[in-house]
Amino acid sequence: APVPIKLQVNGQEHALEVEPRVTLLDALRENLGLTGSKKGCDLGQCGACTVLVEGRRVNSCLTLAVMQQGKRITTIEGLSQGETLHPMQQSFLAHDGFQCGYCTPGQIMSAVGFSREPWGQTDADIREGMCGNICRCGAYPHIVAAVRDGRG
Ligand code: FES
Repeated sequence: APVPIKLQVNGQEHALEVEPRVTLLDALRENLGLTGSKKGCDLGQCGACTVLVEGRRVNSCLTLAVMQQGKRITTIEGLSQGETLHPMQQSFLAHDGFQCGYCTPGQIMSAVGFSREPWGQTDADIREGMCGNICRCGAYPHIVAAVRDGRG
């Protein structure tokens, strides 16, 4: 049976009712209407569903909504400040870091999380650090350039 939970998403608290088996991804998309986080595989293999939980990147298809109560969740919808894009979003635009765009929200959320992790600065480090985010179009060279410049 559905259980009442509260999720803290993009600075707002939301009260919702979900089955205990519902993933964070499905709760975001279906209960809260935040469809920026994409469902590519629903198996933790593609990264399209990446969000930040307490500033760390998480595949939202791999965690249950009920487990994320009380945590600070950020989705792609919460990244810009009003009309002002986040520097990582700007960088993806500047470098054409996408083709079809389906993986882009996950790429950008992962890149923001990555940029706070103690990785090295080389392109090889970026490729390794971003390896959980798959791009079927193969826009990787542009994605690496975008991540490099968006790290600030
Ligand atoms: Fe979550 Fe693919 S949809 S990793």
